[in-house]
Amino acid sequence: MNTNARRAPFITLEGIDGAGKTTHLPAITQWITAHGHALVRTREPGGTALGERLRTLLLEEAMAPATEALLMFAARSEHIEQVIAPALARGDWVVSDRFSDASVAYQGGGRQLGIARVEQLEVWTHAGLRPDLTLLFDLDPVLAARRMAAGRSQRDRFELEQEAFFTRVRAAYLVRAAAQSERFCVLDAAASIDAIRERIEAALAVLGARWP
Ligand code: TYD
Repeated sequence: MNTNARRAPFITLEGIDGAGKTTHLPAITQWITAHGHALVRTREPGGTALGERLRTLLLEEAMAPATEALLMFAARSEHIEQVIAPALARGDWVVSDRFSDASVAYQGGGRQLGIARVEQLEVWTHAGLRPDLTLLFDLDPVLAARRMAAGRSQRDRFELEQEAFFTRVRAAYLVRAAAQSERFCVLDAAASIDAIRERIEAALAVLGARWP
């Protein structure tokens, strides 16, 4: 794990579509700024001008799974270079709505490229950078689909996938969380908003103690 204390903490949010990341993002950013830290909030795919153009392609255009994985990492490479690494180096906390765990879960698991294959891209792109805290919103895909049906009028290419796809994505996330448990906080996304928020704030407090 990269515990380079000279740079600021890097926090990522992960989970299947509909699990509730977006609901909790404002409370996370509020906690960080309320504790006096400068913050850069960003997202993947995206986060840079080029990355946002790639995002549009990735969410709208049909493509082969390997192409999808490579474009995710192309966007990520730019994102690290332009946004994440400079922010961490100047001492800003960084919160990213998704990062490489999403590629492992969606492309490795969901699209069945295999976790090991995607991990090779990860090593190639950013061997020295790993999140310090990853909040994984874990939810049954049936419940997540119900939430999406209630809350989203327009769906992107990923959100249109079937339950079996999200079952594979969820499983790959959990494998990864077990393998790198020191940085993962697995949240039961079926719990109440208040209960989840409490767990998130506890995880942030632990992190904050390491980066006072
Ligand atoms: P998402 O955070 O769900 O955006 P929004 O909340 O605006 O819908 O991310 C967009 C989609 O991209 C999501 O379905 C997961 C997918 N994705 C991958 O498949 N691989 C990746 O590496 C990343 C970063 C995202």
